[in-house]
Amino acid sequence: MQFSTAALTALLATSAVASPTWGHGGDKKNHWLDKWDKNDYKHEKVFYFDKTIIVKAEPDQVRNGTTPVPGQPSAKGLFKFGINVEENTICYNITLSGVTGDYQSPALTATHIHEAARGTSGPPRLAFPNPKGPDDRRVSYGCLTGPFKTGVPGPDGADTGANFHVEQIVANPAGFFCDSHTKQFPLGAVRGQLA
Ligand SMILES: *[C@@H]1O[C@H](CO)[C@@H](O)[C@H](O)[C@H]1NC(C)=O
Ligand SMILES: *[C@@H]1O[C@H](CO)[C@@H](O)[C@H](O)[C@H]1NC(C)=O
Repeated sequence: MQFSTAALTALLATSAVASPTWGHGGDKKNHWLDKWDKNDYKHEKVFYFDKTIIVKAEPDQVRNGTTPVPGQPSAKGLFKFGINVEENTICYNITLSGVTGDYQSPALTATHIHEAARGTSGPPRLAFPNPKGPDDRRVSYGCLTGPFKTGVPGPDGADTGANFHVEQIVANPAGFFCDSHTKQFPLGAVRGQLA
């Protein structure tokens, strides 16, 4: 048996009427799209973070191994992070003040989170775009999502960021520090521990 176009149209129209209607004027309680009312989302955040971290970075935190090697005198850094574990994503808002000259690092960028406890040195796990702008306020902000890459090979030859997950920072922020390296201060112009 074959439906005529008219019969088919009528059938579709009937089933359309029978199904729940969308949008305004429909069954507001039952259709998820009817939640598409700004008021229902007024307490929502734009991004969800499991942890936010604010770090003050200073020149006197810089180390070569465990030996203090002061960074740039009177330079300061404010490194702000928001971490979403499920999405393996870290958002950053980094401001440097008094850091001058070109950046320098064997990594892809010269602004990092390294894995090491306070007073010690360790490999970069995350490489962030270098802050830009006038020397009294260089800024960098955005988000990175894994898999990550630093451009630095670890002892096993793999990139030091390759198997990194932001969950590791949430689990042990004291095991990580952030810094920025320059030509004049290759070990770090400023450094700060994440906890
Ligand atoms: C760091 O220390 C090592 C040995 O302790 C030394 O060879 C190296 O030159 C130092 N690096 C800098 C940039 O001072
Ligand atoms: C980054 O933080 C600074 C203050 O430290 C703020 O003025 C700026 O608006 C922030 N940038 C973004 C993109 O949120």
